[in-house]
Amino acid sequence: MPIRIVRTLSTLRRTAAHWRASGERIALVPTMGALHGGHLALVRSARRRARRVIVSIFVNPAQFMPNEDFASYPRSFDADVRVLGEMAVDLVWAPAAAVMYPPGFVTRIVPDGPATAGLEDKFRPHFFSGVATVVAKLLIQCTPDFAMFGEKDYQQLKVVTGLVKDLDMPVKIVPVATAREPDGLALSSRNSYLSASERAAAPALYRVLKDCAGKIARGDLPARVLDEGAAAIERAGFVLDYLEARHADTLEPISSLKDGPIRLLVAARIGKTRLIDNVAA
Ligand code: PAJ
Repeated sequence: MPIRIVRTLSTLRRTAAHWRASGERIALVPTMGALHGGHLALVRSARRRARRVIVSIFVNPAQFMPNEDFASYPRSFDADVRVLGEMAVDLVWAPAAAVMYPPGFVTRIVPDGPATAGLEDKFRPHFFSGVATVVAKLLIQCTPDFAMFGEKDYQQLKVVTGLVKDLDMPVKIVPVATAREPDGLALSSRNSYLSASERAAAPALYRVLKDCAGKIARGDLPARVLDEGAAAIERAGFVLDYLEARHADTLEPISSLKDGPIRLLVAARIGKTRLIDNVAA
């Protein structure tokens, strides 16, 4: 069956209702397109779980700030559709902005908890309300049994997990491990912004995270380890936004391994590009 590209809500609803009536389970992979190996890991995970796989491609204006890269965000729709067809994806949900946010649209979901942990939210104040609103809409539109989210965007994964729990949405959020380049750099659509010398420096982020995680696991004090890690990241040519140890579920600050599972999270800028990454400690 050729892949179907759907742009209207009525067609999406009719198709999903037909699948559900036939007893077929649906897995959704929400994306903003410019697909890379990280997205494809989510698609493979979806394929394993459900008979029907929907990939949404929607560059969501609500999660970009006016000074961010919405207009220049990489877009490669035709290539994306081709690769999804090869992976036997059933349907690409690609609504226009006016379908997702028609004139008169006034409702926003404003998440708290992990969404206000002082990590990405500190640098991108409206980001998680933009994400929560569009993800809630995508889940209502597509009626999936499963929805796949990457650990790469760890705070987003926790926000979405809380969203479906709090709103009693009948969908299981499935976390997928971060896909990386051989040198450790996490795959990201924004890696395409890196110059050759920035690309060469970029794996330092993951190297430092792994190094910090190893030291914390061996019993070193997280605060000390992170100070040294921050200096190493800046030596590699980054301007650091944050490098933090947080509780892996609540994302609350944590000072010792015995207070719960630790996640180390980093965001840093190199040239004009902002990269994020995280690992378990
Ligand atoms: P986007 O950045 O396109 O990412 C779509 C999904 O791919 C997210 O769940 C993200 O965590 C996952 N992903 C990205 N890079 C990954 C990698 N290297 N390994 C594993 N998974 C990876 O995240 C968004 O879009 C948007 O915020 C969205 C959820 C679609 C809402 O607009």
